[in-house]
Amino acid sequence: MKGIILAGGSGTRLYPLTKSVSKQLQSIYDKPMIYYPLSVLMLAGIQDILIITTPYDQKSFQKQLGTGEDFGITLHYAIQEEPKGLAQAFTIGEEFIGDDACAMVLGDNIFYGNGFVEMLQNAKRNAEEGKATNFGYEVHDPNRFGIMELDENKNILSVEEKPLHPKSNFAITGLYFYPSGVSQKAHLVKPSPRGELEITTLNDFYLQENNLKAELLGGGFSWFDAGTFESKLEAENFIYSVQKNRGKVIACLEQIAFDKGWIDLESLRKSAELMKKNSYGQYLQKVVEKNLIKK
Ligand code: G1P
Repeated sequence: MKGIILAGGSGTRLYPLTKSVSKQLQSIYDKPMIYYPLSVLMLAGIQDILIITTPYDQKSFQKQLGTGEDFGITLHYAIQEEPKGLAQAFTIGEEFIGDDACAMVLGDNIFYGNGFVEMLQNAKRNAEEGKATNFGYEVHDPNRFGIMELDENKNILSVEEKPLHPKSNFAITGLYFYPSGVSQKAHLVKPSPRGELEITTLNDFYLQENNLKAELLGGGFSWFDAGTFESKLEAENFIYSVQKNRGKVIACLEQIAFDKGWIDLESLRKSAELMKKNSYGQYLQKVVEKNLIKK
């Protein structure tokens, strides 16, 4: 299975912050925003990942993340010339995806909660069985998002992009799983009234074929799209307090890679050494020590 992170967009909602530094490279407490969506794909077991950026920002992403070697993954980079919509990711990534199933996560989406790995496994299984998956999360401001309408058995009845009269409060979060053939379908998406190739239109194609499933992120779950000053600050405060209270680092890519057996202890130790002056590196050092004892 392949993975895509869409980190394009002009980021004007975060001006002046994003005048010179891409939104997805800005900090969410102790690490760049893109670490969080990247950790989602890694938790889903995906190692082959395409990062789509604006032409101006590609170099900075490459500097930040490199080949992916430190995280036991292979990163590829592509450019979205203009922010023409999320569905375009699958035509830009057509060659990269080939005949595989593919997940996509938006570069500003942050997920944290119980049972997430199991939901990712379900979505992966759906994709292998020819079905797409959307992840729903209950919000108080449904006009801001793509919205899924559900029946009592959690089957999706309709999907709508930023509806004026939302049929439910379940936002479609920026994490999507698709079966093989998604690029061919994405070519059929026509621009919406706001001139974008909407992911909601693509999801609707799957719904019309009865091939769209929902996974719902429950009550104890937290989801942020960190695209405004307020939601970015909320996400940072959240990550800070959870990490402090639980003594864990969320979206610690080196740790996820090590747990999955994608990097060895020596590689983990090197990353810990590089960052030993801060809490991220000291946390990695603790993981190294724990595993030395186990040996
Ligand atoms: C996009 C999607 C929307 C989705 C949201 C999640 O909106 O179009 O369906 O709910 O991401 O973050 P945008 O952030 O581009 O306005």
